[in-house]
Amino acid sequence: MKIHQSIFSIMLALTAMAALSWEPAMSAPSILTKSFGKTSEGSDAHLYVLQNTKGAKVSITDFGATIVAIEVPDREGKLADVVLGYDSLKGYETGTSYFGGLIGRYGNRIGGAKFALDGQTYLLAKNDGQNSLHGGKRGFNKVVWTAHERPSKEGQALELTYVSKDGEEGYPGNLSVRVLYTWTDRNELRVQYFAHTDKATVVNLTNHSYFNLAGDPQKNILGHMVRLEAPQFTPVDNGLIPTGELRNVEGTPFDFRKPVAIGKRIADSDEQLKLGKGYDHNWVLASGAGLKLAAHVVEPATGRVLEIRTTEPGIQFYSGNFLDGKAVGKNGSVLAYRTGFCMETQHFPDSPNHANFPSTTLQPGENYRSQTVYRFETE
Ligand code: BGC
Repeated sequence: MKIHQSIFSIMLALTAMAALSWEPAMSAPSILTKSFGKTSEGSDAHLYVLQNTKGAKVSITDFGATIVAIEVPDREGKLADVVLGYDSLKGYETGTSYFGGLIGRYGNRIGGAKFALDGQTYLLAKNDGQNSLHGGKRGFNKVVWTAHERPSKEGQALELTYVSKDGEEGYPGNLSVRVLYTWTDRNELRVQYFAHTDKATVVNLTNHSYFNLAGDPQKNILGHMVRLEAPQFTPVDNGLIPTGELRNVEGTPFDFRKPVAIGKRIADSDEQLKLGKGYDHNWVLASGAGLKLAAHVVEPATGRVLEIRTTEPGIQFYSGNFLDGKAVGKNGSVLAYRTGFCMETQHFPDSPNHANFPSTTLQPGENYRSQTVYRFETE
């Protein structure tokens, strides 16, 4: 009897130990973290490689909360990196194309590099002709963020935080920003932005990844088939500042309500295409609450599909018109004309100067929240 009892208790203990040793394997393993070098100011930068159980990966650096790589399968299951970028930190520090960066405090342009809020005028740096672009001289894509891994049932998740000081780049208010990147087993990259301020300010956060779903940065993106759930767009002047009009896309080369190849109409004789040097405009997304479909892009040769859902009212579809082959990308690739396209989910450009656009003002006590999900599939 005694022998039986002790055999029984040994078995119980073994079962308990087995259960315990299983525990770590059940929850997501921790994020692979590597050094990404030192910034010119001597701060350490890191590269965080989020991997899901399918083997697909997203690499993010705390320098600029930047997405460095997204490795996802084609229809044959072959993984390739579908975003443009650099091999090293130096590229991100000195580059001027915003590859993969988190853009803030104000994504896109502010006309005349100034705006008024509560009767006070705020002056910003003119870093794009007479206008301010993507947060100014040193936007959120050029600073080191603080990273923490966050447990999540959905997959590996990385949180990055940054406090932008009152007056930084001319913007009022100490703004505390948090972004949470979650990489799920369905090959979805969920990006959640949060912010709060101690003084009224303006906020428009986005991500500036350049996609090339062929996974080959030497190929241009003109064959990608784009669908945008957008009945209108915001026409611009010659400085790419919206005129304030919301124009119907119907009957224009801006109608992407049915899939069209990027290259099909890009050279049409159209005033707006000329001003944008191609597509470089904000589309007004079909209204709706919560996460709504914004863009669906297919690369026909590899079958890779990118679907973007967002809580934002607009999306800047930019066809890489300013890429000129001067910058050297990953593995020595040449970052040439139209080899990547951006889909920047956002509030409309220059909203602080357009009372008819959805407001980008954030007041103390309010919570800024925005979410975009990039889902990679094949067909
Ligand atoms: C803008 C382009 C700009 C690019 C910078 C895009 O968001 O719309 O006009 O040249 O960012 O790389």
